[in-house]
Amino acid sequence: MSGAAMGITRMIDLPQIHDQRGDLTFVEGGNHIPFDIARVYYLYNVPVDAERGGHAHRELEQIVFALSGSFRMKIDDGTTKSEYWLRDPRKGLYIRRLVWREMDAFSQGAVCMVLASHSYDEADYYRNYEDFLAAVRSPSA
Ligand code: TYD
Repeated sequence: MSGAAMGITRMIDLPQIHDQRGDLTFVEGGNHIPFDIARVYYLYNVPVDAERGGHAHRELEQIVFALSGSFRMKIDDGTTKSEYWLRDPRKGLYIRRLVWREMDAFSQGAVCMVLASHSYDEADYYRNYEDFLAAVRSPSA
């Protein structure tokens, strides 16, 4: 079963208002997003050969968008690995807690925006893959 089928990730589609002046997309807390947005951050000026991510979170949930350009997200729930190419600013990848993620293959000028369920807290990170696996496999995960 794929990660998407297991519900660890899914795509969130946002509205698009299109007219001759261009496109407009909006995000409403309590409507489009399955958690209260506590933080927004974005990645930019990313070298095309950079690798980002390489961690999981104890509690944090996130939705990741490619506002401009494209990049790859590699997702791993400790059992199943899947890959997503993000390139559409209307479509966000919803990533639940306890999911290992890696990002690479950024296009020139790509901008990645992340909506997050909590403020930044380094204590919420698993930055060691073995620690992440142990957490996923523990009965209380
Ligand atoms: P990190 O989450 O490792 O970035 P990525 O997953 O994109 O590779 O964060 C990189 C650094 O930035 C790290 O020192 C923590 C810091 N940081 C904050 O201070 N606040 C934040 O909201 C985020 C996401 C990171």
